[in-house]
Amino acid sequence: MLSHHPNTVALNAIGHTRWATHGVPAERNAHPQIGGNGELAIVHNGIIENFQELKKSLLAKGYVFRSETDTEVLAHLIAEGRKHTGSLLEAFAWALRQAHGAYAVAMLCPEEPGTILAARMAAPMILGIGVGEHFVASDIPAFLPYTRDVVFLQDGEIVRITDHSWEVLALDTLNPVQKSIQTIQWDMQSARKGGYKHFMLKEIFEQPQVITDCLTGRIDEEHERILLPELDSLPVPARLHIIACGTSYHAGMWGQHLFEDWARIPVIPEIASEFRYRNVILEPDDMVLVISQSGETADTLAALRLARERGCLAIGLCNVVGSSIPREANAVIYTQAGPEISVASTKAMCSQMVILSLMALYYAQRKRLLDPQTRHEALKALKALPDQLALSLPSMRETAQKLIQPYSAARSFFYLGRGHAFPLALEGALKLKEISYIHAEGYASGEMKHGPIALIDPEFPTFAIALDDALFPKVKSNIVEVQARRGPVIALTNPGTELHVDHLWTIPAAWGPFSAFLALPAMQLFSYEMADYLGKDVDQPRNLAKSVTVE
Ligand code: F6R
Repeated sequence: MLSHHPNTVALNAIGHTRWATHGVPAERNAHPQIGGNGELAIVHNGIIENFQELKKSLLAKGYVFRSETDTEVLAHLIAEGRKHTGSLLEAFAWALRQAHGAYAVAMLCPEEPGTILAARMAAPMILGIGVGEHFVASDIPAFLPYTRDVVFLQDGEIVRITDHSWEVLALDTLNPVQKSIQTIQWDMQSARKGGYKHFMLKEIFEQPQVITDCLTGRIDEEHERILLPELDSLPVPARLHIIACGTSYHAGMWGQHLFEDWARIPVIPEIASEFRYRNVILEPDDMVLVISQSGETADTLAALRLARERGCLAIGLCNVVGSSIPREANAVIYTQAGPEISVASTKAMCSQMVILSLMALYYAQRKRLLDPQTRHEALKALKALPDQLALSLPSMRETAQKLIQPYSAARSFFYLGRGHAFPLALEGALKLKEISYIHAEGYASGEMKHGPIALIDPEFPTFAIALDDALFPKVKSNIVEVQARRGPVIALTNPGTELHVDHLWTIPAAWGPFSAFLALPAMQLFSYEMADYLGKDVDQPRNLAKSVTVE
């Protein structure tokens, strides 16, 4: 989005590379979206939660919709605002005050040529100050070749730019807000990574925002209910096969604990490449849930097709809108994690875990199994996670950095966990091996004594997930067994536990199984720092591809 006015030729433009949230990627859903009868054009990054209600009332007023986007709703709403207010700025603010959710939005209008209005709420927006030209964008790289002078907008702020002027106003009052200009020192390469050294690190640090985005529009605050309208028309599964590969499979294994505990739905986690080649038993009331960030993984897609051929209803849990799995599933829930560039998956798993938590609560709600107190605690804890995680990530990274050197010569690692921390152990091991090329095995800690403990010696470290939950005493005993074989131990734990290990890594606890949302990034950061320290190609590990579209 830019406003540019060199000499006498005025050029104002808005544009948006859309990451689809509502409506498939198609020309009619592309931006800009037009409001009213061509009175204005807008681009929008984010999600308008109450777009359905707003759309209903706009349809009743005779507005014609040409797309499936929530953006078009906003465009028509601004056009409607024009009838109720004195100026374009007022109409813009009038409409935005009614829109709940997340947005960074910019608007052009023939009524005020040469002006761009933009605003932000829970989605990034930056103003770029040039000479005879100004810019607004979601990200600094969009205008970095033209200016390094920026103003960071805050939630609830509107900015009005022309080629020679800019002002920031409060959305509520339209009073001016004082802002300071900052100068960016990054080069283009690091700007694309938001100043981070690698995409993987950026994506790890995006997780608080990802959790917020996943929860957006999915909780009815007033009645403390989960809203997953995608599933409303399907029955509650009598038994659920969760099918996926790699990291997505680990998310599914983690989700099993929640489905079984809260919704009392028996779950069978399945590796897609195994499921598709077994004479699998699917009962008439069974359903499958396929999890895939890309929505294109060949084995997962084949497993979905097989299940559907056998008459089974299939739900897709995917990140990429309009990819193959969503097109072929009976229902789809999008994780809304945004593009994941790094080959090693991080924020996608976090987003899958949020949706799995919501799904388990949703089915418990439909089965009337969840007592109000547990539901209240679960929702409160979920909503607290973004702030809790954002506060913890910097110190987690520091701890990870300190831990690397003593372990960087290790040839192999064990990752141990029990209960819902067992899938996290598998994921921790996968992350370490795929980007640092250190051999790592994830094991259920109670299973160690059935063979693998033979490997333990002073050169073979163990990364134990020892969270403060009911299984802590058991994990503690397993750690002692490792120490009795002189194996070095890093223990990832919560405040208040008592453990004597080589390196104790204490992270904040969250309610119930949600401590996983803090343990996961700690392990991601450990692998990241290890791979970076060892000089590996973090974002593009050898032999791996982001989408595995072959068997
Ligand atoms: C690991 C990783 C892979 C993917 C797996 C499934 O970091 O990225 O294990 O999780 O290839 O991919 P999706 O989720 O796209 O089906």
